[in-house]
Amino acid sequence: MKKMVLGSLLASLLSAPVLAYESGEFLLRSGAITVSPDVNSSALALGDVTLDGTAADVNNGSAISLIGTYMLNQSWGLEVIAATPFSHDLKVSGLGETFDLGETKHLPPTVMLQYFPFASSSTVQPYVGVGFNYTVFFEEKISGTANDIFADLGATDSADLKLKNSSGIAAEAGVDFSFGADKRWLFNVAVWWMDIDTKATVDIPGVGSVTANVELDPLVYAAGLGYRF
Ligand code: NI
Repeated sequence: MKKMVLGSLLASLLSAPVLAYESGEFLLRSGAITVSPDVNSSALALGDVTLDGTAADVNNGSAISLIGTYMLNQSWGLEVIAATPFSHDLKVSGLGETFDLGETKHLPPTVMLQYFPFASSSTVQPYVGVGFNYTVFFEEKISGTANDIFADLGATDSADLKLKNSSGIAAEAGVDFSFGADKRWLFNVAVWWMDIDTKATVDIPGVGSVTANVELDPLVYAAGLGYRF
C-alpha cells in the first residue's frame, strides 16, 4: 500500500509541469553537511626521528551548508560551496593509550562545474561535478590531556598545534527534487569526495617539534532544502 501511494506520488511529481533549469537561474540550497575524513596518517616524527607505530586521527565534523549553483545553460552549472565552520577532534595513537591531541576548525570553500544530464523540465535533476577545494584550518587547540602527557615528557610550557592549509581537486554527485508552487522549492542530497591533505605540527617547548602528514580525503555529505530564483 505504501509503495502504491509512493508510486502515484512519484508519478504525479514526475508528470507535473515545471519551470526548466535554464541559463541565468540561481539555485540556493542549505541544510546539514558532514565532513567524514578517510584518514591516512604518516607516523609522527619528532624532529628527524620517526616514532614508529604512531598515527594521527581526525573524527567527523558537521556544519550548516550554503550551496549556490548558477546555471550557465540548461545542462551546465557553476557551484560554490560554503558552510559555517566545521569542528574536528584530533587523536594520536601509538604513544601509550590513544589520547585527544586537540581540535581544529576549518572552512573548505569549493567551486564545482556541474553537469545536469536530464531534460531541463524534469522535476528530478541528478548531477555530477568536478572542481577545486581550498581548506583553511584555524583555531587549532591542544587538549589538556595532551599537555599533561607532554609535561611528563619534559615540556616546559603549553604546546602549540598548527595545520597546513590544503588545496586539491573535488568530485561530486547529487540530485535535486523540485516541489511546491512553480516547482521552485528543492529537496537536495549530495555527496563530494575532496582531496584534502595537511601537515600537522605540534611545537612542544623544551621537547621539540612533532609533525605528521595527514591525508583527510573526506566524503562530504549534505542534505537540505533549496530554492530556484
Ligand atoms: Ni589526498
